[in-house]
Amino acid sequence: MSGIRWTAVLIVHVSTLCSATRLFGRANSSDVLKWVDPLIGSRSGGNVFSGATLPYGMAKAVADVDGENTGGFSTDGSRITGFSALHDSGTGGNPSLGNFPIFPQLCPDDDVNSCKFPIAARATHYTNDSVVAEPGYFGVTLENGIRADTTVSEHAALFRFDFSGAKVNGSTSPLLQLDLTDLWASRQNASISVEAPEGGTTGRIRGNGTFLPSFGAGSYVAYFCLDVSGGTIKDSGLWVNNRAGTETKDMYVTRGFNLFYLEAGGFIRFQEPVDGLIQARMGLSFISTDQACQNAEKEIPGPDFDFDGLVSKAKDAWRKKFEPITIETGGVDNSMQVSFWSAVYRTMLSPQDYTGENPHWQSDEPYYDSFYCIWDMWRVQLPFLTIMDPKTQSRLVRSLLDIYKHRGWLPDCSMSTCKGWTQGGSDADNVIVDAYVKNLTGIDWELAYEAIVNDAENEPLEWSIEGRGGLTSWKKLNYIPYLDFDPYGFGTNSRSVSRTLEYSYNDFCLATLAKGLGKDTSTKYLSRASNWQNLFKPDQASIINGTDPGFVGFFQPKYLNGTWGYQDPIACSPLADFCSLTSNPSETFESSVWEYQFFVPHDVRKVIELLGGADTFLRRLDYFHTSGLADIGNEPVFLTVYMPHYAGRPALSAERAHSYIPSRFNSSQAGLPGNDDSGAMASFELFANIGLFPNPGQNVYFIIPPFFQSVSITNPLTNKTATIRNLNFDKEYKSIYIQNATLNGEPYTKSWIGHEFFTEGWTLDLTLGEKESDWGTKEEDLPPSMSTGTMEYLK
Ligand SMILES: *[C@@H]1O[C@H](CO)[C@@H](O)[C@H](O)[C@H]1NC(C)=O
Ligand SMILES: *[C@@H]1O[C@H](CO)[C@@H](O)[C@H](O)[C@H]1NC(C)=O
Ligand SMILES: *[C@@H]1O[C@H](CO)[C@@H](O)[C@H](O)[C@H]1NC(C)=O
Ligand SMILES: *[C@@H]1O[C@H](CO)[C@@H](O)[C@H](O)[C@H]1NC(C)=O
Ligand SMILES: *[C@@H]1O[C@H](CO)[C@@H](O)[C@H](O)[C@H]1NC(C)=O
Ligand SMILES: *[C@@H]1O[C@H](CO)[C@@H](O)[C@H](O)[C@H]1NC(C)=O
Ligand SMILES: *[C@@H]1O[C@H](CO)[C@@H](O)[C@H](O)[C@H]1NC(C)=O
Ligand SMILES: *[C@@H]1O[C@H](CO)[C@@H](O)[C@H](O)[C@H]1NC(C)=O
Ligand SMILES: *[C@@H]1O[C@H](CO)[C@@H](O)[C@H](O)[C@H]1NC(C)=O
Ligand SMILES: *[C@@H]1O[C@H](CO)[C@@H](O)[C@H](O)[C@H]1NC(C)=O
Ligand SMILES: *[C@@H]1O[C@H](CO)[C@@H](O)[C@H](O)[C@H]1NC(C)=O
Repeated sequence: MSGIRWTAVLIVHVSTLCSATRLFGRANSSDVLKWVDPLIGSRSGGNVFSGATLPYGMAKAVADVDGENTGGFSTDGSRITGFSALHDSGTGGNPSLGNFPIFPQLCPDDDVNSCKFPIAARATHYTNDSVVAEPGYFGVTLENGIRADTTVSEHAALFRFDFSGAKVNGSTSPLLQLDLTDLWASRQNASISVEAPEGGTTGRIRGNGTFLPSFGAGSYVAYFCLDVSGGTIKDSGLWVNNRAGTETKDMYVTRGFNLFYLEAGGFIRFQEPVDGLIQARMGLSFISTDQACQNAEKEIPGPDFDFDGLVSKAKDAWRKKFEPITIETGGVDNSMQVSFWSAVYRTMLSPQDYTGENPHWQSDEPYYDSFYCIWDMWRVQLPFLTIMDPKTQSRLVRSLLDIYKHRGWLPDCSMSTCKGWTQGGSDADNVIVDAYVKNLTGIDWELAYEAIVNDAENEPLEWSIEGRGGLTSWKKLNYIPYLDFDPYGFGTNSRSVSRTLEYSYNDFCLATLAKGLGKDTSTKYLSRASNWQNLFKPDQASIINGTDPGFVGFFQPKYLNGTWGYQDPIACSPLADFCSLTSNPSETFESSVWEYQFFVPHDVRKVIELLGGADTFLRRLDYFHTSGLADIGNEPVFLTVYMPHYAGRPALSAERAHSYIPSRFNSSQAGLPGNDDSGAMASFELFANIGLFPNPGQNVYFIIPPFFQSVSITNPLTNKTATIRNLNFDKEYKSIYIQNATLNGEPYTKSWIGHEFFTEGWTLDLTLGEKESDWGTKEEDLPPSMSTGTMEYLK
């Protein structure tokens, strides 16, 4: 199905681009970029940013719509309200950024007051088949015939508008307006100044605005510097609501009575006839307007902006990022390749490199933002970057540590330079320790230890934005109590079950680092890593639709006095209501007791034991995945897919992965089961596709057969190439059972492998068959668990 769609898009490229724009930097048949479709996840809740950006780029330019606009654009057929250049990708909740949109139009009868300035009035449908999205480029045609194209540098965007196909309204004088708003209409105040001398050929609009982060505390200031050219300037000025004037050129807007929100901004109009293109270069900064202008001037020099050159540069930057990985497809459907490469692309949209744009402190360390949120990213996205782009992953970790140094706390979530809301544990701990067990370089491990101990020992006043809450109870009672008494700090006093589980894993990770650094605290934190067991209620059953499926033993909330509370094990599952921080807050976050029952990444064997042994455990897992209880569109589910490895049945993990891919993760525009969460869904799919799935924080990857004949990844630190290869590969995926394996030519029976596979460039050959075999099933072949004493590095 996707193969057909891809062909259709190629035809569209030719027909629309020949009329409106030139062909540039287009992918040829041997270019990996031709497999990347940035529109995957652009509707049905994927919230993916589909526009033009560089890897980890701050500038993210796209058309914004009035439909599903969390990431700016959507292929949901809604209307375009503007074109803006700051965005986040795949996030949930409120739409993020989208500051200072610009919008092209023609004013009927040449009267500036008949132009449609406010969002609801100007919103215009796009022609569905005109959308072209490629790495580094986005283009679309409005129903009124105006074509818009955009590309980017690191901190600036270049837009160009072609009015030649526009349906005229007694006017051909192109007008470009700038709106002092953002996607969420969160502006608190803003300033603008317009300099565009009549009769001149270039105009500049500068300004700033204070806005609110889409999932965080405080406010942030964004600055812009817009240079417009392409004709002779007719007039310029300001607009407020649906009125405009040319006399005043500067304005300050704020919120007054009832937090009244004024729609306002500036405009520049060109004399007719305009047969060329109107270009608009948007410089951006979080530091100052001057820096926004300098960013634009440095990165996109004028007066003649080289649009095509910028697109080529962006494409080259993306090609470079894809270099480490190659696949031999073995003849699988092309849609699998589109899905794969597009997922690789999406893992590098965020975090965003704001180095040099940090308004809060000065430092020589890198500064990354849009960790949105680490709760989503630590499980698979950041581990994927550790394989593909370990140099950047080191910079990300250094950036987290620099935040600790200057703010006193590691972040749990961040966006638009603000602190985001914490969802569970202090999960930056897991990210840092994952980097440690995988030997990433250039990181100050003593500082890392200090930062994580701070999370483990000290409760911040506001633990909804950093650190952990309820630490007094945690230390005294060894669990987070239901309705805790906590006069030491403030946060949403919910999620006692999921926080207990997450804090246990955070402490496990800390114990690992402590052990590695030779600290004597490792025993203490290992002991705290078992705290999860205190919320296991052995006689708890789960009644579903009036029927008892027969599984006994679930986590339950527990009061301060040790008495059990109660949360229906199916509450917060897809069979019940969603539970977030604000809607329906519960004792488990965004997922049910059913799902959290499996969240003990460091001691799955103990979970298996508590749940009654391998057979019951496997039946429970199977029931979970087939009854509608599993939420494959959210991160806590990820590890459950691979848990059969711990019960000696790696074949069942492979079966489960195939049950979700491609049926729930595929190359269609609606091809994600939930918010991409800045690349988390993408990475879940990628790790399954390459046949090695991480248990992050531990030096462990579970082995299943890759979805391609073979996958090779060259480690950018050691330059050694690791290859995982299927023998007897079957593109219909009937043979997905490993019969036996060799590692560098020697028989290999373990169902898991360490990160050395990648750094040392090993070769893993898997022989496949149509039936489950006894490969990877023996006790000595199972992945390590804390309670079985099989974690060598903790001894
Ligand atoms: C195709 O694109 C790749 C990547 O840019 C380039 O190396 C190769 O030379 C191109 N091949 C042709 C035939 O243009
Ligand atoms: C454009 O696509 C949207 C979303 O699929 C659809 O609702 C709408 O009808 C389409 N418009 C046209 C003109 O085909
Ligand atoms: C022309 O005017 C019509 C009706 O007011 C409007 O829908 C259309 O978008 C305008 N065209 C342009 C190019 O601004
Ligand atoms: C703009 O709003 C922010 C946030 O409310 C406030 O801190 C700042 O003082 C305001 N700026 C001006 C100039 O009023
Ligand atoms: C925004 O710009 C106005 C006008 O230049 C200036 O007075 C104000 O200080 C700026 N605000 C910030 C937060 O930089
Ligand atoms: C990390 O370095 C240690 C010490 O050199 C080595 O034993 C270990 O195998 C390395 N781990 C990885 C994942 O490369
Ligand atoms: C413990 O506290 C809960 C909640 O206040 C209460 O319902 C329960 O009766 C208490 N149990 C005991 C044994 O006091
Ligand atoms: C519960 O009942 C509903 C409505 O009959 C049904 O859709 C759902 O599949 C049932 N769930 C389970 C787990 O049996
Ligand atoms: C692609 O994934 C979406 C989202 O999970 C799903 O709704 C759709 O059915 C899938 N399409 C195919 C052809 O499997
Ligand atoms: C890896 O290759 C790069 C580029 O050729 C080179 O600069 C670097 O020194 C190599 N690193 C190692 C460890 O060989
Ligand atoms: C692996 O299994 C295949 C098929 O069962 C068999 O032909 C082959 O000899 C086995 N190789 C090893 C190394 O055991």
